[in-house]
Amino acid sequence: MILTDEEKRMLDGQYGDLVRKSMKILVALGEIYGAEKMLDINNVHSPGVSYRVAGDAGLNFVKDASVAGRFEVPVTLNTIGIDSENWEELGFPRCFALKQLELLQAYHTMGAISTYTCTPYLVGNIPLRGEHVAWGESSAIAFVNSVLGARTNREGGPSALAAGITGKVPAYGYHLDENRKGKYLFKVDIDLKTDRDFAVLGYFAGKIAGTDVPVFEGIKRRPTLENLKALSAAVASSGAVALYHIVGVTPEAPTTEAVIGKQEPIRFGKKEYEEVVAKFSLEGDIDFVVTGCPHCSINEVRRVAQLLAGKKVKADFWICTSRQVKTLADKMGYTEIIREAGAQIVCDTCPVLAPTSSKGYKKLVTNSAKLAHYAPGLWNLKTGLIEIEDCVEAAIKGYWGGKV
Ligand code: F3S
Repeated sequence: MILTDEEKRMLDGQYGDLVRKSMKILVALGEIYGAEKMLDINNVHSPGVSYRVAGDAGLNFVKDASVAGRFEVPVTLNTIGIDSENWEELGFPRCFALKQLELLQAYHTMGAISTYTCTPYLVGNIPLRGEHVAWGESSAIAFVNSVLGARTNREGGPSALAAGITGKVPAYGYHLDENRKGKYLFKVDIDLKTDRDFAVLGYFAGKIAGTDVPVFEGIKRRPTLENLKALSAAVASSGAVALYHIVGVTPEAPTTEAVIGKQEPIRFGKKEYEEVVAKFSLEGDIDFVVTGCPHCSINEVRRVAQLLAGKKVKADFWICTSRQVKTLADKMGYTEIIREAGAQIVCDTCPVLAPTSSKGYKKLVTNSAKLAHYAPGLWNLKTGLIEIEDCVEAAIKGYWGGKV
């Protein structure tokens, strides 16, 4: 790799041992992936912040780093393993919570911003088209690359930390024009209306595209932010898609020709839609309902509050979101409505990153394809993928009748 004089000084240890070690990680990555140079980045979204993921090894790593230095660029933090302000009331295990808080303290000492969310783009970390960033968390990576048109590879905890400390990433992968072209063309032949519809499309396409770039044409309605949030999470869970294009919608895809060469499209019609839905169909008593994977927007919290007003839930119902969105929900009275119904707004965390398995749930319904994908393997939970309105109905009845 060709390094600037400044980058060479960083690698030589002239800015301290932490910068030297971080630069060493980034240079090693660059050499593995054939990068020719480093790029300056404007911000980082750091994954691996849940103690469930980091464990003691991650905790010690970040604690050591916090003694030695600070972040050079703004670093927002991904979802953690507890509700940071409400963990005792919500029944998170004490020993887990204390380790989690210790990890957060180390990140804060380094100057990280305590967003604790997988939707940093809803709470102020909104990179612009063409901006180079270093993000982790699969759904957020797909969103920032595809919907915002910024550029990131799939960063893990250590590489995100190194990027935050140096303000650099090696120039390879999705930072380069040539790797942002589409590989698989999907022709959408049905009208997609709901977040779940977009999640189902994403789940179907992610399985085929794997780590490559899918391109969607034929989507008739202009998607909402929540539609694209659901799509981003789904393509990144059935596959490992970090970038997709929607012709006429996402910023790098004004036309099909602009993003993909001529090829026979893969059809996504009623049959393909129903095959995905059937994979996640479920009936019977429900003891756990979750919405907010990725974390809910204020519109989603509002919708749940409208549907829950004056009702009582029988199943445990988590509405996962960021603390910032909950603050808005508090002001709007949504939190109170949800609490009176017996449901919970859970901040900072989610069932995948929290020690949820200890609760012994049996059947889950959700409107998230990502959660539906991971829950069966993680906790042997039978899982249904349904609309947000149906999630509320299932929570109220403690039962879901299998309507799709
Ligand atoms: Fe976010 Fe947790 Fe889902 S991090 S995308 S709510 S698995």
